[in-house]
Amino acid sequence: MSQFHDIYDRRDGKGFLAAFVILLLCVFSPVASFSANKLVVDADLGSETINKNIYGHFAEHLGGCIYGGVWVGEDSPIPNTRGIRNDVVEALKDLDIPVLRWPGGCFADEYHWMDGIGPKEKRPPMVNTHWGMVTENNHFGTHEFLDLCEMLGLEPYICGNVGSGSVLEMQQWVEYITFDGDSPMANLRRQNGRKEPWKVKFWGVGNESWGCGGNMTPEYYADLYQRYQTYLRNFSGNRLYKIACGSYGTRFDWTEVLMKKAGRRMNGLSLHYYCGSGKKSRSATDFEEEDWFAQLQRALEMDEILAAHSAIMDQYDLEKRVGLIVDEWGAWHAVEPGTNPGFLYQQNSLRDALVAGLTFNIFNRHCERVQMANIAQTINVLQAMVLTQGEKMLLTPTYHVFEMFKGHQDAVLLPAYLQCGDYQFGNEKIPMLNASASRSREGSILISLCNLDPNNSAELDCELRGADPSSVLARVLTADAITAHNTFDDPESVKPETFHHYEFNKDGIKAVLPPKSVVVFEIQ
Ligand code: AHR
Repeated sequence: MSQFHDIYDRRDGKGFLAAFVILLLCVFSPVASFSANKLVVDADLGSETINKNIYGHFAEHLGGCIYGGVWVGEDSPIPNTRGIRNDVVEALKDLDIPVLRWPGGCFADEYHWMDGIGPKEKRPPMVNTHWGMVTENNHFGTHEFLDLCEMLGLEPYICGNVGSGSVLEMQQWVEYITFDGDSPMANLRRQNGRKEPWKVKFWGVGNESWGCGGNMTPEYYADLYQRYQTYLRNFSGNRLYKIACGSYGTRFDWTEVLMKKAGRRMNGLSLHYYCGSGKKSRSATDFEEEDWFAQLQRALEMDEILAAHSAIMDQYDLEKRVGLIVDEWGAWHAVEPGTNPGFLYQQNSLRDALVAGLTFNIFNRHCERVQMANIAQTINVLQAMVLTQGEKMLLTPTYHVFEMFKGHQDAVLLPAYLQCGDYQFGNEKIPMLNASASRSREGSILISLCNLDPNNSAELDCELRGADPSSVLARVLTADAITAHNTFDDPESVKPETFHHYEFNKDGIKAVLPPKSVVVFEIQ
């Protein structure tokens, strides 16, 4: 019943020795020994850094993400700073969000940035045809977005319009934002109240150009990408990191063609993967165990998807210069009853927390190639961190996972070997546990674990090699029901608690991970 999961490469050969010893134990021990879940972490090894941008976000002009979620306007009774909600900013600050993608998504390819600058009363409205056919007043534009980024202390990632825009339009946007000299665009920026240029490193060239961004073939888009990127200039010391529109899920031909034709001219290639919802029920909060299982099984597929795209990229870029940028990911449930279907407003349960936890463990382990990821989306849309209702705000279970995992940002990935049992449902099974480990610059070790089994706790023996630990802090996120979630009436139903079910000594940790839980150990 037990098997190996997540045996990582170890350059000095000891890793293979460890794996071999575990294998021998499995083969020659009585069946009872298979029940032991074992994690071996080499705390003194590791060479790859987990780019902090893996913990990035995405905010689109979609439903209540920007309007109501971020932007309420200067005259709103909801406390705000220059129109941006104070409560949301305060909550998001605690996540140490490194990067924020904007303005879409599909919206990016019908957004004309010049409509979103200058006096608000003069900004022309538009119809948001992708998302609910609502009228967009363009009150949240370039200046407001970059103000938000400054408030949150993070890097902006702007996605430019290829689908319905022009090379000139995108070229001028970069000049408007980043040029400090004397030019029509830089002067227009000054006229609109911003003297100094901003720094914007991350620049996307179109979104889902195979679909809502223009229904293109990879060959056609690869040519367009090369043309657009030619005119995106590095002004005034602002060095652009150009991200080409990438594939979705298992569509591998797109990655192949883009890398072959345009790989030399990009810094990053994007990838989108949504793990959907349940099997029978697509509701975010009304589902059964078969939906839980199906959702987590699909979320785990991220591992193979990343491996396959990375393998294609390796053929053209063995030294891994081009980053794989997973700039949309997450669960996609049915919208909450009574809400606009075009607004993608969904609740968020413990199941979503497990999706986030296991996905981060996968991203961390692929950090050699994955240089950024952006969950869809930060507020009120899809797998959100924050839900708002008028002046009320709540933090979702997914929010708490971002907070619990933030110690992985810019830490060194540690080799970790996990042997675990399966979580079986009907005739299918998935690994019960999922883990990753890292060492921060300061030397602390973070081990993050998910127990995907909703019915059984997991005894785990975690051996820490090459460390001299003195203390550990442990936290757990779990609940009684798989459907547990936070509501405006009960906003703290699911939140992290101190975790006590473990023993710690200098060799490691023995723990009992509760069913359906995310657990983190921070070891000093
Ligand atoms: O995140 C919602 C939408 O999903 C985005 O706008 C689009 O890029 C994707 O299909």
